[in-house]
Amino acid sequence: MLGLLLLMALLCDANSTCPDDSNPLSLEPSSVTGELGKSFLVNCTSSEVDFHQMYWKIGNNDSGIEEEKEFVAGSVTLSDWSVKAECTIRLDETLTCSKDLPITVYKTPDSVSLSAPKYGPMVAGSDYVLSCDVINVVPVQHLEVKWYRDDDMVDTHIFNKTSMTPVNVTATLNLTAERNYNGAVFRCEAELPLGPGPGESQPILTAATSNYIAVVLYKPQIPDCPDHYTGVEDALTLDMLRCHADGNPPPTVEWYYQGEQMNASEPLIRTQSGMYTARFQNSYGYSTKFISITIKDCPLTLSPAKAVVRFGDPVSFKCSTTAPTYIKMGWETSSERVPYVTWSVESLAAWSMDLPCYVTLEDFTQCSKKPEITVYKTPDSVSLSAPKHGPMVAGSDYVLSCDVISVVPVQHLEVKWYRDDDMVDTHIFNKTSMTPVNVTATLNLTAERNYNGAVFRCEAELPLGPGPGESQPILTAATSNYIAVVLYKPQIPDCPDRYTGVEDALTLDMLPCHADGNPPPTVEWYYQGEQMNASEPLIRTQSGMYTARFHNNYGYSTTFVHVTVEYGPSFNCAAHYEVHEYGKPVCEPEGLPKPVTKWFKDGRETRTPLRWTKQDTGSYSLTASNTHGTASHKLYVNVLYIQMFREENYTQGVFLGGNVTFGCHAEGNPTPEVYWSYSPEANVMESTGGSQSNISVTGATSTNAGVYVCFATNRVGHVTKSVTLKINDFNDDNTLNIYGEQHGGKINSLIWLVPALLICALVAILLILFTRRKRQGNYNFVPQRDKEGADIPMTTTSDA
Ligand SMILES: *[C@@H]1O[C@H](CO)[C@@H](O)[C@H](O)[C@H]1NC(C)=O
Ligand SMILES: *[C@@H]1O[C@H](CO)[C@@H](O)[C@H](O)[C@H]1NC(C)=O
Ligand SMILES: *[C@@H]1O[C@H](CO)[C@@H](O)[C@H](O)[C@H]1NC(C)=O
Ligand SMILES: *[C@@H]1O[C@H](CO)[C@@H](O)[C@H](O)[C@H]1NC(C)=O
Repeated sequence: MLGLLLLMALLCDANSTCPDDSNPLSLEPSSVTGELGKSFLVNCTSSEVDFHQMYWKIGNNDSGIEEEKEFVAGSVTLSDWSVKAECTIRLDETLTCSKDLPITVYKTPDSVSLSAPKYGPMVAGSDYVLSCDVINVVPVQHLEVKWYRDDDMVDTHIFNKTSMTPVNVTATLNLTAERNYNGAVFRCEAELPLGPGPGESQPILTAATSNYIAVVLYKPQIPDCPDHYTGVEDALTLDMLRCHADGNPPPTVEWYYQGEQMNASEPLIRTQSGMYTARFQNSYGYSTKFISITIKDCPLTLSPAKAVVRFGDPVSFKCSTTAPTYIKMGWETSSERVPYVTWSVESLAAWSMDLPCYVTLEDFTQCSKKPEITVYKTPDSVSLSAPKHGPMVAGSDYVLSCDVISVVPVQHLEVKWYRDDDMVDTHIFNKTSMTPVNVTATLNLTAERNYNGAVFRCEAELPLGPGPGESQPILTAATSNYIAVVLYKPQIPDCPDRYTGVEDALTLDMLPCHADGNPPPTVEWYYQGEQMNASEPLIRTQSGMYTARFHNNYGYSTTFVHVTVEYGPSFNCAAHYEVHEYGKPVCEPEGLPKPVTKWFKDGRETRTPLRWTKQDTGSYSLTASNTHGTASHKLYVNVLYIQMFREENYTQGVFLGGNVTFGCHAEGNPTPEVYWSYSPEANVMESTGGSQSNISVTGATSTNAGVYVCFATNRVGHVTKSVTLKINDFNDDNTLNIYGEQHGGKINSLIWLVPALLICALVAILLILFTRRKRQGNYNFVPQRDKEGADIPMTTTSDA
C-alpha cells in the first residue's frame, strides 16, 4: 500500500515532465461516445519499445501492469456520467507519459414537447413565443433544438451551459404571426450531434415532437372581384357576383349603392345600374372593392303584372317580349317561338304559384318575370267567444277570442274589434301562410262598469292591395254579437243632502235615493246607529242624519241624508197660568216649521208677551199656524207681583215729646200682607189697613229712636224698607239735625256744598294763574259762590 502511493506520487511528478512531442502513446479508438453503461475496448500503443511499464487507469482502478507488449488494452465501461480513462507509460526512472481517453457519455431526452404559450388562435401581426421543453438530456452543451415551420427549418437553438449530468432545458421561438402561417405546422426537434470518432458514423440523436398547428386570424385581403358586371333586371342579385376576399375568420360582405346598404339577395332592378361598393369585413379589419354594374331590362311584359284572385276563380296572364330577336321564350312549362304566350286557368286550384315567363336572348343571357299573384279565400266563419261563461266583474281582466276559420293570405288579414260602434283594437297576424289557416285574434280587456250592456264584435278583413285597374276588395265577415254583462259594486249614491217630509206620511223609501250597481244594490237605512224600517212612516222625533248604505255582492257605498220630519202646530198648554211679573212667556205651541203664534185679549190681537207685566193678567185666546195647519187655545194668565210703594229707606226725625206718624204701602197680586218690625213701646201704635200699615208715635221719647222695618209679603216673595226714627233735642244745632221725609234730597246738596266750594275756589285760582300766564293785564274775578249758595236751604221744618 505504501509502495503504491509512492508510485502514484512518482507518476504524477513524471507526467508533468513528459513533453507533448515526445509522448509515444496513441489510443485506438482515440475517443469514445456512448450511453451510460456501455463498454469499449481501447488499445493503448506505444511507439517507443523501450519502456519500463505501460498500464491503464480507468476510473479509480489500475489495470494490470504490462511490461513486455507494446500495447495494452483497456476495457472502458461508461459507469457514471463523469467516468475518466488514462493510459500511462513509464519510459525510464524519471520520464513518465500518459494519454487521456476523451469520453462522452450522452443521454437522449425522455421527452420533447412544444407548447404555445396562449391558447386560442394567433392574430396576424402580433408577437408570440413557442416553447420546446427537452426533458432529461446530456450533454446539454452539444444539444441543438431545431425549429421547423412545415418543412422549413426556421431557427436553431443551442444552449450556453455545460453539464455532465442530465438536465431539463427549454428552447423558445419568437415569432410574429403572419397570415400565411394559418394552418402551418410548427415543430421542434432536439438533436445531439456528437462528433464522429475515426471509423465511426456520426450519431444524430433526434426526438421529434407532436405538431402544433397554427391558426392565424387576419383581416380580409384585397377582394378578388370583377371590375364590371352586366346582368338582367330581376334576374341578377349581388350574391350571384363572383366576389371573394381571403380572411380568417371568413369575412362577410356588405353591398352599398349610392350610400345605401343593399339586400344582396334581392334582384336588382333597371334603375340600379351604377357603381357598387363591396365591403368585406371580419373582426380584424375590412377591405373594399368598387364594381360597376350595368342592369339591363328584361325585355318581357306581363299583362296583368299582378293579380288578386279568389281561389277557384279563372285567371290568365299574357307574356310578351319586346326583344327584336331572341332564342326562345315561354312560361315555365311550355316553350313557344312566338313573341307572346298566354297562361290561363279556368279555376285557380293552387294556393301559391311560381310561374315565371322567361326569355333567352341572343347573347344567351336568360331572364324571367313572374306575375305577382295573390290567392285569397274569405273565412268560412268568424266567431267570437268569451272565455268564461257568465258575466264579467268590473276591474277584472278578460280575454275575448275571435276565431277566423280557413282564411288566406293570413299576412293580409286584419281582425278589427268593436265595442258598440267604436273600433277598440286591430289585430294583425305575424305569420305568413300561402294556404288557408285558422287563426285566433284576442282582445284583452279590463271590464269597466260602463261596458255593461255593450255589444262586442270582431270583424275579419282582407284589405288586399288593388291591382292595376282593380278596386280594392275588402272582405268582411261580421260575427255574432257578444253582449257584455258587467257586474259592479254600487257607485256613489245620487241622493239629496237634505230632505223634508211630513210626519206619518214620509217613509225612507220615498227619498229619491239611488245608487248605480249591477246587480241593482239594496239599500239599508240607519238612524242613530239603528237600522230603520224604510217603509214605516217617520215621526216628529225622528228628524236627523240618516245613513243610506247601498250594497250588492261586489261592494257597497254609503251616503248621508239629513231628514226633517215636519208636523202641524198643536198646543200642549194649561188653561190657567200663574206667572210672576217679568216672567217668561208661557204656552209655546209645537210644530215644524215653528208655527207663527198670535195672542188675542178681549177679541183684539195683542203683542206677544215676552215679559209679563202686572197689566197682562187676563183671558187670552191663541192661534198657531204653519204650513201644515192651524191650532187654537184659550188660557187665563194671572200675573203675580209684589211692590213696595216708595221703596227707599229714610230717616224720620221727631222732636222730643212730639207726635209722628209714618206709613208703609205695598201693592201686589195677591194682595200682600204688610207689617212692621220694631221694638214695641207704649206710645208706639201700628195700624194696618189693606196693604197699608202706619206707625204712630205719640210723645216721642228717646227710647223710641231706632229702626222700624216694614215687611210686605205675598206668594211672590217679600219686600222690605226701613225707617230710622231720630229724636231731636231743641238744644241741638238744628241746621243739620232735623229733616223731614220730604227734605231728604236736600241733605245731599248740603253735604256736597263744602267740597264744591273748595273745588270752585281751586278752579278759580287755576284759571287766574292760567290766564295771567297767557296774557298781560289785570282781571277782576267775581266768584259765583254767593249766587249758588242762595238756593241752598239753610233751615228746614218738619211736616210730621
Ligand atoms: C313575430 O313573432 C316572432 C316569434 O313569435 C317574433 O320573434 C317576431 O319578433 C315577431 N315579429 C313581429 C313583427 O312582431
Ligand atoms: C199729640 O197727640 C196727643 C193726643 O192725640 C195730643 O193730646 C197732643 O196735643 C199732641 N201733641 C202735639 C204737640 O200736637
Ligand atoms: C195711615 O195714614 C194715612 C195718612 O197719613 C191715612 O190716610 C191712612 O188712612 C192711615 N191708615 C191707617 C190704616 O191708619
Ligand atoms: C233699608 O233698611 C233695611 C233694614 O234696616 C236694610 O236691610 C236695607 O239694606 C236698607 N236698604 C237700603 C237701600 O239702604
